Amino acid sequence: MNRRPDDMVRITTPELADAFIEEQIKALREQIGDKKVLLALSGGVDSSVVAAMLIKAIGDQLVSVHVNHGLLRKGEPEQVIEVFRNQLKANLVYVDATDRFLDKLAGVAEPEKKRMIIGNEFIEVFAEEARKLDGIDFLAQGTIWPDILESEHGIKAHHNAGGLPEDMSFELVEPIKILFKDEVRIVGERLGLPHGMVYRQPFPGPGLGVRCPGAITRDRLEAVRESDAILREEFAKNGLEGKVWQYFTVVPDFKSVGIKEGKRADEWACIIRAVNTKDAMTATVENIPFELMEHLVERITHEVPGINRVLYDFTPKPTGTIEFE
Ligand code: XMP
Repeated sequence: MNRRPDDMVRITTPELADAFIEEQIKALREQIGDKKVLLALSGGVDSSVVAAMLIKAIGDQLVSVHVNHGLLRKGEPEQVIEVFRNQLKANLVYVDATDRFLDKLAGVAEPEKKRMIIGNEFIEVFAEEARKLDGIDFLAQGTIWPDILESEHGIKAHHNAGGLPEDMSFELVEPIKILFKDEVRIVGERLGLPHGMVYRQPFPGPGLGVRCPGAITRDRLEAVRESDAILREEFAKNGLEGKVWQYFTVVPDFKSVGIKEGKRADEWACIIRAVNTKDAMTATVENIPFELMEHLVERITHEVPGINRVLYDFTPKPTGTIEFE
């Protein structure tokens, strides 16, 4: 099915999700037969749901490749391995390409150049892995219905075949192509994915790379990763997870004077951002309780090496964008 039928009922219940899954599995088995399918599994909602669907339909004829570009959040690569390799028994290739990405990014401060390097390197690593595999005929993609609508309306180019080199031609498999995002989440839960994985907040493809303004260094990247983990833990404990649309930390490349253990400490400032939005075109700032803010400051300045100040970004979009880069 190439288009969402005009009269298709919105999937809002487990029963409707189950019926969709059953129908798709039948269609996937017909399309794929006994051939093999390749998937770039980022751990994001869409690629995870595609993986779970294909594992159910064709088992180990699906080869999932998880590329760790070194810019993922704390615990993310581990969760992909736990859920897909250990629980769902996926045929999973895990590639730790951290050094490759960070070496290429060394000294690069310009945001769009960083994005380009991360995007190109990702395709290169994925293509290298694909070339090592024999007999792959299909490429699975987590395209969803809004992607197709947006590309038809010229808002953004629809990621076509993952941007792979032209000599690598695969037939596409797009099992969630006619679904809206809320439907993808319900289907994902019915396929057995953890709630936290299908309801997670948006996370940009270039990952923590765009939350490390200026040239990325390993120590500052670590400060972003650790402070982000503390923020997520505290939001979960304090009932803000699932309520606030997107929240994260940013550590720009500038230092200020502070005091730690009675000594002068020239360290970075960690900026907290927490915003609400419907469509990411505009956003408002979350009103974080002052006591929670004090607790976050205490934890981040004491637990994260290199941070001596914590700031809160009160800027709505516009004038600020959600991300800093
Ligand atoms: P901005 O910063 O433009 O962000 O207000 C709007 C939404 O888009 C996400 N975002 C990205 N997602 N690649 C992505 O996949 C990117 O380069 C990128 N930049 C921003 C951002 O996290 C927010 O949800």
